[in-house]
Parts: sequence; structure tokens; C-alpha cells
Amino acid sequence: MPYVHSVPALPSFDGKGLFGFVLGPLQEKDLEIYYIESDKGHDTFTVSKRATRVYYVIDGSGYFTISDQRYDVSRGALVEIPPKVEYSYSGKMKLIAVSKPRCFEGNDRFTRWNPDVIQGEVLPPANAESWEIFGRRLINRYVRLNRRLWRRLPASISNLRPVHSYGELLYGLARRYGDRAQNLGTFFLRNRPQLELIRRLIDQRAENDTLKVAVLGCSIGAEAYSIAWTIRSVRPDLKLILHAVEISRRAVELGQCGRYSLVRPPLTGTDIFERMSEIEITDMFDREDEFVTVKSWIREGIKWQVGDAAERKTVDTLGLQDIVVANNFLCHMHPLMAEKSLRNIAHLVCPQGYLLVSGIDLEIRTKVAADLGWHPLQELLEESHEGDPSMRALWPWHYAGLEPLNKRREDWKRRYAAAFQLLSREGGVD
Ligand SMILES: C[S@@+](CC[C@H](N)C(=O)[O-])C[C@H]1O[C@@H](n2cnc3c(N)ncnc32)[C@H](O)[C@@H]1O
Repeated sequence: MPYVHSVPALPSFDGKGLFGFVLGPLQEKDLEIYYIESDKGHDTFTVSKRATRVYYVIDGSGYFTISDQRYDVSRGALVEIPPKVEYSYSGKMKLIAVSKPRCFEGNDRFTRWNPDVIQGEVLPPANAESWEIFGRRLINRYVRLNRRLWRRLPASISNLRPVHSYGELLYGLARRYGDRAQNLGTFFLRNRPQLELIRRLIDQRAENDTLKVAVLGCSIGAEAYSIAWTIRSVRPDLKLILHAVEISRRAVELGQCGRYSLVRPPLTGTDIFERMSEIEITDMFDREDEFVTVKSWIREGIKWQVGDAAERKTVDTLGLQDIVVANNFLCHMHPLMAEKSLRNIAHLVCPQGYLLVSGIDLEIRTKVAADLGWHPLQELLEESHEGDPSMRALWPWHYAGLEPLNKRREDWKRRYAAAFQLLSREGGVD
């Protein structure tokens, strides 16, 4: 029987302003204990139905808002929140929290966003009324059932027009009702055609030129290193300044360290090396037993930072970039937030610069690209679309799935383009 517990490697939950870990499992079934690292605070205001919550501030400072009253707290403070009281907290703090009884489904009702953490979100947080939860659950169950069936269909059947139309219907449900959540999933050399496109885009640059690249939502660094490796392998003369930006502090720390275990999965839940050959691993890493470390010629010039790609302040801090990469995180946001973030990201791109953006609702990307007059690149369009099998495999039963490229669509050259040239600065301004 374990008497001593430590913080697990993987966060058990995270939000825009914090991440946290459940400690245990405890023998005492009526109790749950969490370790929370709050960067900005809890995303929402909460009312607990039955559980009492106790928070102890181990480090940092901030404040709790309890029944509309503000209570400043700092290291050593203990806060008790009884059930049926609305509360939230803000600030940069490390907390131990206790829930008695344990958190159970339906206990927490999220009443509104915490403005210290989430600004500009139009819709209320998703917990909603019980009928909505029920409806949502039913639909999600239906979509999950279809997932099993869809996976068994041979391509010759799933490509038939009526079956494809059914897939579109299903995908509409998944997008509308799927529970969106961020994750750190990533791979080295995730989308090879996209990397080849980057190589071609820099081909014409003058010798010894400075090249500024921003990789947003870079998780634990696999994508940023893959891009730096691609660029430096073909153009060692360029002075590459690569900004690797990520909202999760823990992921940034891992990325900056650049050291990964070949056998134990990191925070990502993916085998980050599965798309690499042995030769590529040898070229990119120094190896020591089960660990590999990214070689120094690839690491140099990479600037790591914790930042929110949705915030204007992040864009202002980074300044204009020649190439901006924003892959596979906008699809996990609420569509309104994703659109707002994409428009914000466009401010980063210098005139004549390039924006590469995949893993986003195609409707949103097409709309923003048209609104802001971006020029969709046709080079390697089809290859890049098919270049990341994990996103393609999620369609049509997951909100983040990437639909098959459909040339019967009149607009296919715009809809499926994931790389754009932003011709003028105005083109990137909303
Ligand atoms: C699914 S991973 C994709 C990682 C990488 N871009 C790739 O394609 O392999 C999404 C990452 O985006 C990060 N992220 C989510 N929202 C973000 C935001 N607003 N600003 C910066 N990073 C964000 C997540 O923490 C996560 O690490």
C-alpha cells in the first residue's frame, strides 16, 4: 500500500491559466488532493454542488473572488470554500487543493469566465443546464458509435458520394458538440511536405540573410526543432532566429531542454519519434543510452517563450516574422476564439511573408484568408494536406479531423491551402 505520493509526470488537467495534478490514488475515497500551478488563475468561476474545497498557497500571490468579494492571498494562506458559493482565483501561485468529497461529474457548475484569464470569449463556459449536457452526451455517444463503424469501412465504400455526405453530417455534429480540449500531441517531422515547402520558400533568400521564423503552439519542441533542422541543413549560411512559443510552461521547459527519452513517452501522449528514420535520429540528436539531445547546431538561435498566440501582447513582443507556423492548436479552440486568434497571428507576418496554418476548422481558415486577402500557395498543397496522417484519420468522427481533399469542390484550391503569402502588412491587419 503506497503511503507516499508524488506529483505525476503528466498534468491531470489544464486550462488557459493553470495546470494541475491529482495526487494519489489515495486510500481515503472521500478525499481528493491536487497540486496546481496557476500562471494567471482558474479559467472560470465555479459553484461546487456538494464538495468543500480548501486551497493552501505554497508560493506566489494572487486573490480569490468568493461571492463577489476579493480576498488577497499569498504564501501560507489557507482558503476554505464551502459548497454552493461562487468563486474563482487569479494570480501566479502554487497551490495545494483539497476536495471533500472527491470531484464527481455534475458537481461543478461553471458560471462565467474569469476575466483575468479569458478575455473576449463570447459564449459562456460549457457546463450548461442538464438538458444540454444530456443532449450533448447522446450526440457524442452516437458519434463515437459511428467512429467504430467508420474505421472498419474500406476506402472504396467511404469514398462513395452518399457515404461521404453522411461523413460530412457526422463531422458537423462532432464539430458542434465535441468537447474541445487542448493537448500536447506532437511528432518530429510531423508533416514532411510542409517542411519541404519551407525549404522551397527559403531557397531564394540572399546569402547570409537573416530569417525570422515563429513557431506557435510548439508543444515540447518537436516541431520547432524539425523546422530548424530543415532550414539549417539546406541553408547553413542564413542567420536563423526562431521563436518557439507555447502556452504551457512545462512544455516550454521540456522543449528548451531538448532532451527526450526514446522509450518513455513525454507529456504528449504520442511517440514523438515514430515518423523519423534511424539516420534522421542520428543526424538530429546526440544519443546517450535511452536519451537523445538535439544537436547544438540545430538548437542555436531558438528563443523559447511561454506565450498565448491569441494575445496581441505576444505578437507585439515577437515583432514581424518572415515565416509564421501555427499548426494543430486552433482546432482545439472554440471557433470564435480560433478565428480571433488567427486574425491576431496574422499581425506577426511581415509584408510578403508566409503563414503556414493547419489543424484548424477549414471554414474559419478560408473565411479569414478571404477577408484579409491572403494569397493561398498551391505548391505542395495536396501533399501537405495528406502529410499528417493523424489529423486525416480523425475525420469524420472527431472535431479536429481533417476532411479528405475533395476536388469536386469549386473552391478546393483555397479551401485546402494551408500556406499563404500575406502580400501587404494591411493584409494581416483585422
Ligand atoms: C496538439 S499540440 C500541436 C503541437 C505542434 N504545433 C504540432 O503541430 O505538432 C497543440 C499545442 O498548442 C499549445 N497551445 C494551445 N493554445 C495555445 C495558445 N493560445 N498559444 C500558444 N500555444 C497554445 C498547446 O499547449 C499544445 O502544446
